[in-house]
Amino acid sequence: MSADGVRQRNGKNGDVEFEVEPVVKLKRNVGIISGTSFIVGSIIGSGIFISPKGVLTETGSVGLSLIVWGASGVLSLLGALSYAELGTLIPKSGAEYSYFLEATLPVIAYLFSWTRTIVLQPSGVAIICMTFASYMTTFFEYCGSPVPPEKLIAVLAIFTLCIINCYDTSWAAYVQVFFTAAKLIAIAIIVIGGFVKLGQGGHVELQDGFKGTTDSPSRIALSFYDAMWAYDGWNTLNFLTEELKDPFKNLPRANVFGVTLVTIVYILTNISYLAVLGADGLLASSAVAVDWGKEMLGSAYIIMPIAVLFSTFGAANGLCYSSGRMVYAAARECHLPEVLSFVHVKRYTPLPSVIVTCVIAVLMVIPADIGSLIDFFSFAAWLFYGMAVSCVLVLRIRRPDAHRPIKVFILIPIIFALCSIYLVLAPIIQDPRLEFLYAFLFIIGGLLFYIPFVVYKLDRGCFDKVTIFLQLACEIAPSPYVPD
Ligand code: ARG
Repeated sequence: MSADGVRQRNGKNGDVEFEVEPVVKLKRNVGIISGTSFIVGSIIGSGIFISPKGVLTETGSVGLSLIVWGASGVLSLLGALSYAELGTLIPKSGAEYSYFLEATLPVIAYLFSWTRTIVLQPSGVAIICMTFASYMTTFFEYCGSPVPPEKLIAVLAIFTLCIINCYDTSWAAYVQVFFTAAKLIAIAIIVIGGFVKLGQGGHVELQDGFKGTTDSPSRIALSFYDAMWAYDGWNTLNFLTEELKDPFKNLPRANVFGVTLVTIVYILTNISYLAVLGADGLLASSAVAVDWGKEMLGSAYIIMPIAVLFSTFGAANGLCYSSGRMVYAAARECHLPEVLSFVHVKRYTPLPSVIVTCVIAVLMVIPADIGSLIDFFSFAAWLFYGMAVSCVLVLRIRRPDAHRPIKVFILIPIIFALCSIYLVLAPIIQDPRLEFLYAFLFIIGGLLFYIPFVVYKLDRGCFDKVTIFLQLACEIAPSPYVPD
């Protein structure tokens, strides 16, 4: 079969005949429950168990830290609403990639797919799986068993996710629902524990709530980076629009419900941490949830590291799933090697794109310096979020009469875009670090491949043999976009 699904064969009279293969499409398996689980379960990962300390350190006060947690939720909600308009106007998988392609120049979509495929997605998977691994070692120590190397555990976690996501999309969806339910139970324990403590006379130091508040714009931006990492993943469902049942209803509903739920849960969890540990205890803690557990649950505190394990594994699964769909969407437009858009003919999973995401994530785990990966991630991610939300405005001007199942109030994308400009620029202006320059050079560096391979199509022919070999070896076939 050729790369576009056309099979050539010899006809009865010796002439060449062509037969068009039925298109292999990803199935619409994701309903409202699994869709909401994809959002909630991808957002709640390691951040809420780790970031509260960072937010409190940067803001300098309990009052401002709670405001930053709330404001980050509102900002994510503005993003999720804007993406609901984009995702229902352009109901294609791939999120930002598909929106850049429609609203801007193809080169912007390409540079996004390049940065996201090589750095943003795999570094996200690597960071979450490294946190998973570090909590796994706590668990091994608790059980008194020998502790395997952390990086080995992280690699095994990525490998497991890869198998699940390649094997069956419904499996990946079940995994998502199960782990989301598990982490919500754990968080409910923290929230209820907080109320119990407050009932017993515990208090959140709100009287002098703003004492010590920082006045540095870059530190406030850094505190938002910490909190926004905990909220990252609010756009997950837009990556899989083509797999959503009734996307015009389910995408906006799940986006709004999912992000609102997480915001409430995060604020209550922070209040609980503060009620139980106090601001000083929170600042002194290296693993907030575990210290909270030791204080409130005694020897049953082991529930907390297990909760973090469940939470991180579920979030990594969501990211793995959505990342595969972005690679798939970009490869379909020949912005990445075409074979990455192929789908398994029997399992209907985007096998090559999932494998590539996981392989790069494994390569990142090996030398990972997680701190600088997060810095790099936040800067570049916010650049793209801001640009994507601006596409709402561009498309309102360029396609004013297009059918929009959801049309958000115009100030929503404007406020979001202004906040993202602040989040990108404040740290660069106040504390210009080399990471930002590297990030920028890396993004632009994608042009080194764009010009020869996408503009001049220099690879024509030389990759075809590899593509055909992989098609036969992995039982994968092209999956062009066919609107319903
Ligand atoms: N919010 C998650 C956490 O707190 C990280 C999400 C990573 N990114 C994503 N697109 N799912 O660990």
